[in-house]
Amino acid sequence: MTTLPMPADLPEPAINPNAQVVLAKRYLQKGPDGEPTEDARSLFWRVATAIAAMEAHYDKSPFTPEALARAFYDLMTGMRFLPNSPTLMNAGAPLGQLAACFVLPVGDSMEEIFDAVKFAALIHKSGGGTGFSFSRLRPKKSRVGSTGGVASGPVSFMRIFNTATEQVKQGGTRRGANMGILRIDHPDILEFITCKERENELQNFNISVALTERFMQAVEKGEDYDLVDPRDKRVVGSQNAAEVFSLLVRKAWESGDPGIVFIDRINRDNPTPALGEIESTNPCGEQPLLPYEACNLGSINLSVFFDPEAEDGIDWKGLTETVHLAVRFLDNVIDASRYPLDQITEMVRANRKIGLGIMGFADLLYLLRIPYDSTEALSLAEKVMETIQGEARSASKTLAAERGPFPAYAESVFGKRNLGPYRNATTTTIAPTGTLSIIAGCSSGIEPLFALAFSRHVMDGEKLVEANPHFVAAMQEAGAYSESLMEEVTRKGSIAHIGMLPEELRDVFVTAMDIEPVWHLKMQAAFQKYTDNAVSKTVNLPNKATKEDIREIYWLAYELGCKGVTVYRDGCKAGQVLCTGEGG
Ligand code: CDP
Repeated sequence: MTTLPMPADLPEPAINPNAQVVLAKRYLQKGPDGEPTEDARSLFWRVATAIAAMEAHYDKSPFTPEALARAFYDLMTGMRFLPNSPTLMNAGAPLGQLAACFVLPVGDSMEEIFDAVKFAALIHKSGGGTGFSFSRLRPKKSRVGSTGGVASGPVSFMRIFNTATEQVKQGGTRRGANMGILRIDHPDILEFITCKERENELQNFNISVALTERFMQAVEKGEDYDLVDPRDKRVVGSQNAAEVFSLLVRKAWESGDPGIVFIDRINRDNPTPALGEIESTNPCGEQPLLPYEACNLGSINLSVFFDPEAEDGIDWKGLTETVHLAVRFLDNVIDASRYPLDQITEMVRANRKIGLGIMGFADLLYLLRIPYDSTEALSLAEKVMETIQGEARSASKTLAAERGPFPAYAESVFGKRNLGPYRNATTTTIAPTGTLSIIAGCSSGIEPLFALAFSRHVMDGEKLVEANPHFVAAMQEAGAYSESLMEEVTRKGSIAHIGMLPEELRDVFVTAMDIEPVWHLKMQAAFQKYTDNAVSKTVNLPNKATKEDIREIYWLAYELGCKGVTVYRDGCKAGQVLCTGEGG
């Protein structure tokens, strides 16, 4: 389907061996015999041309599709920016579904519930992940009018979604990921909070409780709060808010599940309240969406913008140019994508949400020799994200001038307040970049490294050994590099307790477990401040962390303006629905 011939002088992408393995397993188009019909170069050219071809729809475009295809190719193969996995897999290919994130409504009838199961299956097949709020379902044991029976309630229906997901592997390779959300005031909330208690239960779900402002206030005051039947908003019971909050904390301490989202805050940032209320996010929590809405994401690899010649070590001009090109890319993705349902196409085309984010932040800090757990790192995070958000909005304005604002602009908060016009209802999101970061060879999202050196199992038992290249270079520079050091680091993951290394280096080359939980949270909040959508981040806690520690993290997240929190206490359970490369 590629429309443009591949230029003879197209450079080979510089792909590391890990990326080669991941691309070959999952991203390269394959023939009927299962053998790849393309290589990395033709993959990136396929994507670049398919996305650049959309430029022809717009008269005022300053680019020819040919010139833009080349610019997109260089953008991706220079590992400055990568679009989310479905775009890499499906652009210019028969499937043509390019978005990673979807939210589907689940209505309170058999028809609507099973429609949602079917729609989710179609989305999973195309490589997307789905989020659902089950809050509209009548509580367990409510009467069912047509049969005189009793309802089984949200949790029981979630098991059906879970089983359906199990049977449909995404795009043949990626396991379907779901987010299940229930409001704190739903009568079945206690069952929901404990629904993943048993091992292997609801394996294809991440779950989160939607906390309201009213609930948080009741916790503070030690009051009871109302449980409400979603059908008629009748108060059908009450709970002590502090006790339910303690249960949430205990469950998160035991297993990491459920997470929490601050649903009122999310809705305060809803750019198009006239089109509906936001009830759910995508599976990893970084993208709140309206029912039937989808969003495509893309991530800038910050480590590439390290510039030792620049005053503060960052090539801001290069970063700005990349943001502008990336926003054009992501806006074109919306036109190029074929969505599995008409309702989704309609919603996506009305709002044109995109989610530009970053990866390689921890690598950048290593290169700049700034410890992750420092105020300097927080300032850098804010400066980077403020720049990206500002430039992304400016790029979206430029596109609005060329192509018109997003169709729902007039009824959006921007239209009402005379801000804009913008081409996109949102422009920034920070994704986990589980697989993208492997392809780009950088640290994932805004996370610190999990280990400085480790061996990793990737799909079908294949094993990859990795040492962070910036760490290796720093050790060589300091004259500290040796085989035995590397063996020790691979065993321990961290250098925090390798006393023979200079303290300065031990402060800079920190890993997730070396960092106090509160710094994880502060970093999430710093990025959230300048992100339209939400931020994917796990607050890692050591095994010895207490429930009190988790309670503090939850309150701090509330106070610092985060849209949700996910905590993970080391060793608290064997497996979780990880959105990482290994998760497939
Ligand atoms: O790096 P990649 O583009 O593959 O994905 P990510 O940044 O780790 O995850 C972004 C989003 O893709 C998630 O929040 C999900 O919505 C979706 N996803 C999924 O549906 N299934 C997976 N196995 C991984 C991600």
